[in-house]
Amino acid sequence: MAESLTIPKTSDRKNIYDIIAPQIAALVEGETDLVANLANITAALKEAFGFFWIGFYIKKENQLVLSAFQGSIACTRIDFDKGVCGHCYTTRKIVIVRDVSEFPGHIVCSSASKSEIVLPVFNKSGEVAMVLDVDSDKLDDFNETDASGLQKIVEIIEKTI
Ligand code: SME
Repeated sequence: MAESLTIPKTSDRKNIYDIIAPQIAALVEGETDLVANLANITAALKEAFGFFWIGFYIKKENQLVLSAFQGSIACTRIDFDKGVCGHCYTTRKIVIVRDVSEFPGHIVCSSASKSEIVLPVFNKSGEVAMVLDVDSDKLDDFNETDASGLQKIVEIIEKTI
């Protein structure tokens, strides 16, 4: 694996996703430990985009449980019917919330979090094995560019689980 990332000096997120995705694929190639890979992926995305909070919640029994992340401390367990992560898990769809204060049941881990995007990560049986949660301290910070860019990262993980 490479020891450092090459990140373009641009604010064009699509460009950054395009450049970072193959590097993330290379980062996890040959490593079978899931949490090690998730940890490096969150670090890479944090470094590339400076996201306020980014992390994974893994489905364990009947809850989503905090796994690798970058950012401030976060709630450790989320019920399937709670918060944006629970909504993503239940609907099995990417959820973009432009203003978390308007999302019924949003779980406040940090009052600085203003908008977020959550993506489901599927295992080979087609079950949601985990979700990828990205939070911003700006309102309306995520759009379809993030959905498709992060989806490419999710697909890298899906190949390993
Ligand atoms: N905002 C999430 C909870 C997790 S924290 O943001 C890290 C939610 O409502 O699902």
